[in-house]
Amino acid sequence: MTSSTTDFAITRNESPKTEAERAEILANPGFGVHFTDHMATVEFTEEQGWHSPRVEPYGPLQLDPAACVLHYAQEIFEGMKAYRHADGSVWTFRPEKNAARMRRSAERLALPQVPEDVFLEAIKELVKIDEVWVPDASTGEASLYLRPFEIATEAFLGVRPAKEARYCVIASPAGPYFPSGVKPVDIWVSRNYHRAAFGGTGFAKCGGNYAGSMAAQVEAAEHGCAQVMFLDDREEKWVEELGGMNLFFAFSDGRIVTPPTGGTILEGVTRMSLVELARDAGHEVEERPISIDEVKAGIEDGSLTEVFACGTAAVITPVGSFKDGDDVWTVGGEGRSEELEESYPVTMKLRTTLTDLQYGRAEDTKGWLV
Ligand code: COI
Repeated sequence: MTSSTTDFAITRNESPKTEAERAEILANPGFGVHFTDHMATVEFTEEQGWHSPRVEPYGPLQLDPAACVLHYAQEIFEGMKAYRHADGSVWTFRPEKNAARMRRSAERLALPQVPEDVFLEAIKELVKIDEVWVPDASTGEASLYLRPFEIATEAFLGVRPAKEARYCVIASPAGPYFPSGVKPVDIWVSRNYHRAAFGGTGFAKCGGNYAGSMAAQVEAAEHGCAQVMFLDDREEKWVEELGGMNLFFAFSDGRIVTPPTGGTILEGVTRMSLVELARDAGHEVEERPISIDEVKAGIEDGSLTEVFACGTAAVITPVGSFKDGDDVWTVGGEGRSEELEESYPVTMKLRTTLTDLQYGRAEDTKGWLV
């Protein structure tokens, strides 16, 4: 790695949002709708490798209409957050895990791998220049959502890996992913669509996986559900994940089960962190296949007491019910308490443990903050 690859040229935005505009956005950021004043970009060509690292004003990309990404979806991305602590300092959570996952995604999509130092430096430079966009600690759970992504930019319509690519990072102040906030979400069990197949791209964080999930997401919304749950494509029996989140199941005896990442499931950074935090809290955590029948039976006999979804964007969100066709399984039963600490004690405890760590309210004994 030459030092110039991580030596970002900085071009400041001459007309950034005004302080008043920014304050209005930060007061109610929503999720993924507002963007900061700058973005980071690094180019790749076969001849030069990664080059031209720069931070410049946020704005539209110039792409050849024949760019591979527009035709064959050669694209990957990451989701991360920057958190402000009470002392004003700004932190990211296990960014090297995102860097490593992006390299695995790149390998699967036959894109050039972004070296870890380039991945991290782009994020650092962007967060530094747009630091005023990181929400205040007093806002509770707002953060600056970071979206690193890589696209194939070569203008070529033959189907082969592109020889030119671009790595970019954009940032977006974020409140809760679900507009309803931290409330139990209802889940539609997808029977018409699958998210991934063995040997496919399920483990990679590529746009195509999300494009393929949207028809199922529309179906979920038509049935009054905020999210869709996918089952495996072979037996249509094993729980995989939601459209953009991993799933955990908590049993009354303290066991927690989450489906294993066997190639079809996204290897979530929040997922892997929760496995560790739950074990630290004394739970027996099983990474093993769990069938939709086990889930339904557990809800029915009361042994499966809590279900939650997790991801960088969604943090930890309780699951309220599963709708499978006309049948509904309500987690915790119809009479469950409206107080989440009562109805979802394991979920909420893990949520507090994780967010306290991320927002600096608890000591980072694991060294996960950077
Ligand atoms: C994330 O959690 O960061 C994701 O990329 C998932 C998406 C649903 C926002």
